[in-house]
Amino acid sequence: MGTLEGRSAIVTGGATGLGRAFVQALAGQGADVTFCDLVAETQDIAAEIASAAQAQAGEGRAGKVQGIVADVSKLDDLKRLTDAATSAFSGVDLLVNNAGRWRQTPVTDAYDKAVADWDYIMDTNLMGVLLLSRLCVPLLIERGGGDIVNISTYYVLPAKSPGTNSPDTDLYNASKWALNGFTQAWSRSLADHSIRVNALCMGAVDTAMLRGLWDGDPPQDLAATWMQPEQIATLLLDLLADGRSGENIGAWVGEPVQLGPRKPAHRTVTG
Ligand SMILES: NC(=O)c1ccc[n+]([C@@H]2O[C@H](COP(=O)([O-])OP(=O)(O)OC[C@H]3O[C@@H](n4cnc5c(N)ncnc54)[C@H](O)[C@@H]3O)[C@@H](O)[C@H]2O)c1
Repeated sequence: MGTLEGRSAIVTGGATGLGRAFVQALAGQGADVTFCDLVAETQDIAAEIASAAQAQAGEGRAGKVQGIVADVSKLDDLKRLTDAATSAFSGVDLLVNNAGRWRQTPVTDAYDKAVADWDYIMDTNLMGVLLLSRLCVPLLIERGGGDIVNISTYYVLPAKSPGTNSPDTDLYNASKWALNGFTQAWSRSLADHSIRVNALCMGAVDTAMLRGLWDGDPPQDLAATWMQPEQIATLLLDLLADGRSGENIGAWVGEPVQLGPRKPAHRTVTG
């Protein structure tokens, strides 16, 4: 029997990359998963992930997977997403805020571009997290507790990542730093409802987002060492099993991808 059997999960940006690996790993452990993405083929992708999850579950029962076309920055889309999860799987126990965008935004750019970039990045990376989490919190409380996992980046763990804030992605960096605020505040304010809130903060992972930086042709040394989405998905499962809250969990290229010991409260932000 999978460790997540009977649980209902929502994953944003689940059609590809890290999100897809999260959906498959959760379903492989028996969770019923509703994911959203911008791409039109979400239903076909859901069927592919469900069959991969069943292969992974072997003799066990993989969870069901449904894919919804929804933009996390649009409240009506998010209401459809949560409605789909609650009507198909009678509630929500777990939210993975994974959908994220990245774009070069040099501070010397023209004002108009900067404003357009702000909307492009913040609407997904921050507003989407805010809106969907606000919708899900009452649903998690209804189930007696659960988990919210925000997908961040190792940039926010300066104690171990000196100088890694890329200079030309100020808005992306700011969006991920701001996620810290959500993670830290929510972990405290939701503790009485048995809702745990953490963030996964990775270095380079082999996905379309990162390959896009080099037009699909990444430097060989990086391509030989970067992490795979499945490793981060296993880290997510470990985190859910562990039950800690309020932590930024780091994962670095060239190091074992593992949860590590629990951090004292005053060190959860800096890693
Ligand atoms: N790949 C890395 O090295 C890396 C490292 C640290 C953090 N991250 C974070 O991990 C998350 C996933 O990144 P990835 O590398 O898998 O990216 P990706 O671009 O490969 O996949 C992101 C998915 O999210 C979807 N998406 C984007 N905007 C959306 C929106 N508004 N509504 C719904 N879906 C939307 C995309 O269509 C895509 O399917 C992001 O939050 C990213 O910032 C990635």
